[in-house]
Amino acid sequence: MTYVAPVTSSASEQQRRQHAASFGAAAQEYRRGRPSYPRQAVDWLVPASATTVADLGAGTGKFTELLVAAGFDVIAVEPSEAMREQLTEVVPAAAVHDGTAENIPLADASVDAIVMAQAWHWVDPALGIPEIARVLRPGGTLGLIWNIRDSDEPWVAELDEILHHHSRQDLDTAPSLAAPFAHVERAEFRWVHTMGRQSLFDMIASRSYVIVLPDAERADLLRNVAELLDSHPDLADHDEIKLPYVTRCTRAVRA
Ligand SMILES: C[S@@+](CC[C@H](N)C(=O)[O-])C[C@H]1O[C@@H](n2cnc3c(N)ncnc32)[C@H](O)[C@@H]1O
Repeated sequence: MTYVAPVTSSASEQQRRQHAASFGAAAQEYRRGRPSYPRQAVDWLVPASATTVADLGAGTGKFTELLVAAGFDVIAVEPSEAMREQLTEVVPAAAVHDGTAENIPLADASVDAIVMAQAWHWVDPALGIPEIARVLRPGGTLGLIWNIRDSDEPWVAELDEILHHHSRQDLDTAPSLAAPFAHVERAEFRWVHTMGRQSLFDMIASRSYVIVLPDAERADLLRNVAELLDSHPDLADHDEIKLPYVTRCTRAVRA
């Protein structure tokens, strides 16, 4: 299985920032096409004893809504205005703030847990680690989570090949975390996301590396995906697409 992310490892800092800031341009596609996360992952990442939980890089609220459903008081922090607009509609129960992991608009030692879903790779750890540690209460938990398409499934491997033709990066989904974080643990959850054909296109269109492609190249990529859907025996003439995921989690305690 390969783990992929939206930026090439050789990308310049300027490119990384361009990709990190790109999501707002496809906020509706993101909301429609991106998968949620398995409930076991929420239970594993956030201690049941937590009361206030901050979701950094909350996007359109895919993980935020699971935190609210689990009964936590949730504060969502998200830098993109267009993503925050979707988030407010999707999860009205969450408090929503403009901010980043490097500049969190919350008081010192004010939350019991912090999560970042599919977003830690956009953070500068040298700035993000001390800032997250500032906002977490001592003994609080940092949880990181990524949904990774399971390319052990042959048609998913073919899809990834099409996507990687345009851009790829090996993503570190088991990052080391510097002090004051300790007791780092990992877990994986396998599950299947069932979606319609249009949702698959929305999922692809909401990848940062697809958002920033020139129009002609994006059209080319989507045409190649359509050809795969029309021709692959596991996909052609199927109303529903079953996309297997491995959800990879890291949790650590603020010492
Ligand atoms: C792939 S999306 C994940 C959204 C959501 N957490 C989810 O699971 O669907 C990444 C999000 O991180 C945000 N982001 C980019 N750079 C960030 C940073 N430095 N700190 C916090 N969030 C950031 C983007 O605006 C985007 O909404």
